[in-house]
Amino acid sequence: MRFAFFVFSGTGNTRRVCSRLAEELEARGHETETYPIRTDSTYPDPRAYDTVLIGYPVHAFNAPAAVLKFLKKFPKADKKNPKPVYLVRTSGEPLKLNDASAITPRRILKHRGYRVRGEYRYVMPYNIIFRHSEKMAVRMWRAAETQLPAAADEIAAGGGTRRGVNVLKRSVAFALRIEHTAMPALGHHFKATDKCVGCGVCAKICPQGNIEMVNGKPKFKRSCVGCMGCAFSCPEDALKISLLNGWRVNGKYAFEGEPAEDGEVQRYCRKSYIRYFHSAEDGEKKK
Ligand SMILES: Cc1cc2nc3c(=O)[nH]c(=O)nc-3n(C[C@H](O)[C@H](O)[C@H](O)COP(=O)(O)O)c2cc1C
Ligand code: SF4
Ligand code: SF4
Repeated sequence: MRFAFFVFSGTGNTRRVCSRLAEELEARGHETETYPIRTDSTYPDPRAYDTVLIGYPVHAFNAPAAVLKFLKKFPKADKKNPKPVYLVRTSGEPLKLNDASAITPRRILKHRGYRVRGEYRYVMPYNIIFRHSEKMAVRMWRAAETQLPAAADEIAAGGGTRRGVNVLKRSVAFALRIEHTAMPALGHHFKATDKCVGCGVCAKICPQGNIEMVNGKPKFKRSCVGCMGCAFSCPEDALKISLLNGWRVNGKYAFEGEPAEDGEVQRYCRKSYIRYFHSAEDGEKKK
């Protein structure tokens, strides 16, 4: 079978998960192709593939605005025989509220003749709000690695389940869609400090083409979707991200070394993280 991955990833977590899932599918004899969702990308016709996978990070309990825009442009498929799609998402928290992020992608896809057959969610370290410890990042990645082979088996067999979302979760997610309207304005006010060395990494990374280098300094236009790629990847930590600056996280996670023990999980949402880790690890033990 041929699988196409279309992946939006600001800071690499979703790309990392999707690329491991692609490896798992290839190990089962399937072909995969991956296309980043960026304004400077060109894409093949998704109808040419047996199955389509959409990778995205959760942004304010929703799919990023860039992903919704991308899906709205999908060529229409046969509604009587809808093309199967899987959603693969990463989020910084293991909260069920993040399931609401699938509502709008599902609706858009259905309208265009595609059907979401299954959804997979993986907790990966935060790229905003606060920095998870390296040990937490390792435990998260191990939990994802543990669960991905089963996802590949299920996808290859055409199975999968969709997650129910109650009215409360829908309402919260709907209210926070404000992020989609706010980010272009907030992002326009991102600024480089004196630490900036004009390397251009931020401009190259931006999936929206929102950053232009002017006289050796980044200038931000009005199409930011808040992916945090620029601030996270700046080698000098030289970007101020306007009102969100107190939540800035800079620098790649290594995903190497010892994982956090239960007792080392931070206090924030501790029970949910431990429940998530145990559920991934128990699944592995049952094999
Ligand atoms: C603007 C923004 C909003 C976010 N909102 C949420 C959220 O609502 N829930 C959550 O669990 N994580 C949230 N996150 C964290 C990311 O979903 C998480 O770090 C993800 O793995 C990043 O993936 P990426 O590296 O592929 O961009 C948010 C991140 C950003 C930048
Ligand atoms: S990545 Fe950082 S140092 Fe490089 S141009 Fe952008 S702001 Fe300046
Ligand atoms: S300006 Fe920065 S945060 Fe906004 S879309 Fe570009 S890389 Fe992402």
